[in-house]
Amino acid sequence: MSLIEGRAVCRYFGGVNALANVNFAIEKGSIVGLIGPNGAGKTTLFNVMAGTIKPTTGRILFHGEDVTDQPAYRICRKGIARTFQIPRPFGTMTCLENVVVGIINNLNGPYVKSDVEDKARIALKFVGLGDLIATEARNLNVVQKKKLEIARALATGPEILLLDEVLGGLNTQEIGEAIEFIRLLRDKQNITIFWIEHIMGAIMQAAERVIVLDQGTVLMEGTPREVVSDQRVIRAYLGE
Ligand SMILES: Nc1ncnc2c1ncn2[C@@H]1O[C@H](COP(=O)(O)OP(=O)(O)O)[C@@H](O)[C@H]1O
Ligand SMILES: [Mg+2]
Repeated sequence: MSLIEGRAVCRYFGGVNALANVNFAIEKGSIVGLIGPNGAGKTTLFNVMAGTIKPTTGRILFHGEDVTDQPAYRICRKGIARTFQIPRPFGTMTCLENVVVGIINNLNGPYVKSDVEDKARIALKFVGLGDLIATEARNLNVVQKKKLEIARALATGPEILLLDEVLGGLNTQEIGEAIEFIRLLRDKQNITIFWIEHIMGAIMQAAERVIVLDQGTVLMEGTPREVVSDQRVIRAYLGE
């Protein structure tokens, strides 16, 4: 059984078919890339998987269980966490507080403050922000903000992490380090990775399989090598 599966997922926004009959399956322990031109529906697919928006029709199955109608916090608690394409941390809150809020938001119930803070500290340390837990988020640089965004997602204890263009704004060396880090998440933490990225080189290095979306439909899927040499993919990116 796949870890997570989408069946005939459609999402319409007025006249726009952001997702039109999308089928996909992600195996546990894999790193899968999700690529496609701007407006292809990638972020919408993540929103649907995380439960923050509901599909117009179609189902999302996690461990074979239909989670389509469940609220986002419950989907998160089951083990699906996502980062946002544009991180918006609370600037005047510390790193620790930002991660704590991320955990509490997805609990929707009573909690022990010290336990939550412990989880937040572990996640911050893991992403390399251990020395900055008391620093206000507004004082972080772009790399640190990305790390905070990942820590916020990791602290919820996900089985699968949905990464939405986390490499944007990083330089070549930082991208290399981020790729290593994402591999580590899978290898050492056993977290399955579903990763939207427009930097093809990064996907080529890290992903075992790539799904290509175009205009709300799956154009193709395959190994990174198969995908970049596919005429349909090249056409989708470059236009006719
Ligand atoms: N909340 C929304 N309301 C209206 N249209 C939306 C909304 N979210 C996405 N769309 C539209 O759906 C299409 C897919 O968007 P998106 O999923 O953000 O694409 P991608 O992440 O691949 O760039 C776009 O045409 C976008 O304008
Ligand atoms: Mg997007």
